[in-house]
Amino acid sequence: MSPTELIQAAKEARARAYAPYSNYAVGAAVLTEDGEVFLGCNVENAAYPSTICAERVALTAAVAQGKRRFAAMAVVTRNGGSPCGACRQVMIELGPDMVVYIADETGAYRTTTVRALLPDGFDNASLLA
Ligand code: THU
Repeated sequence: MSPTELIQAAKEARARAYAPYSNYAVGAAVLTEDGEVFLGCNVENAAYPSTICAERVALTAAVAQGKRRFAAMAVVTRNGGSPCGACRQVMIELGPDMVVYIADETGAYRTTTVRALLPDGFDNASLLA
């Protein structure tokens, strides 16, 4: 699957964002190593900290379907916003080798990696050492 196709999937998920408080819709699509795509959007809550981000929705949905190995993630926002710190922590846990495409609503994107987004992160190796 091409970056553009994964970004398109994330864009479709973004259209389902529940973001009545921030009005900042986010869509994510995660590609498993075996070629499946799982989608996520942000789901906000009147109790603001109960909000969950699009990236974590996508990854946890995939894990719930038995997927543990991830190749790539696309994230789409109106302006190409970067994943938050909490999402980076979950990304390094579940998909440390993922390539990440960060796109805006026009489809323009930049390519990075989870390791670049969270250098020197706390991960399973830290616990096992
Ligand atoms: N949000 C995400 O979905 N992903 C991120 O990585 C950053 C923030 C959401 C949370 C909230 O619904 C809205 O964007 C504004 O913070």
